[in-house]
Amino acid sequence: MARLRLAVLISGRGTNLQSLIDACADAGYPAEIGIAISNNPDARGLERAARAGIAARTVDHRPFADREAFERALDAALGEADTGLVCLAGFMRLLTPWFVERWRDRLINIHPSLLPAFPGLDTHARVLAAGARVSGCTVHFVRAEMDRGPIVVQAAVPVVEGDDEARLAARVLAAEHRAYPLAVRLIAEGRVRIAGDRCVIDGEEESGATLFSPSSPGGR
Ligand code: GRF
Repeated sequence: MARLRLAVLISGRGTNLQSLIDACADAGYPAEIGIAISNNPDARGLERAARAGIAARTVDHRPFADREAFERALDAALGEADTGLVCLAGFMRLLTPWFVERWRDRLINIHPSLLPAFPGLDTHARVLAAGARVSGCTVHFVRAEMDRGPIVVQAAVPVVEGDDEARLAARVLAAEHRAYPLAVRLIAEGRVRIAGDRCVIDGEEESGATLFSPSSPGGR
């Protein structure tokens, strides 16, 4: 079966891009990266793409007159790369409804919280301030409203005493690096069906695992 062609959109360090690069390096993985695109010419993720021998391009948003002109250039680059699925991975530009509709159901994002809780920026600080005992990450299809859309995969991690933003972010990031390749694999295998605001996952099995936080062996 042909592998699903990904375009990974980044703005910064690109550790989620790296997790997808690593997953795609396995010949049995059902997706491949056609291109990595950054809106920021200084993004460290561009070096990761170069190191992996992956096509990379900068589409700098700054010379464009408006958001839509930038997105038309982005759209052209995605088309040229024969993109089947766009993966936002720390891409720090808001997308207009035009772009979101054009790539509807072929555009996913990763967010460092258990959506719909804590959408937006400064996620980890807000999780800590709220005293939540569990956080995590979400891979979802993108809709016009920020950090909303049918959820493909979530992974949960505990929030523990002594956590600061950096410690919690690192724990969530490690979960992100497993969740994004899993979500892409499920989509590439054709196991994800979008039903209204939800995803239905074909062949899903119950793992039986419960995450307690604070941890409680035996759950008592
Ligand atoms: C990740 O935490 C992701 O969830 C958020 O931006 C961060 C990107 O990190 N959308 P990286 O550039 O992939 O390392």
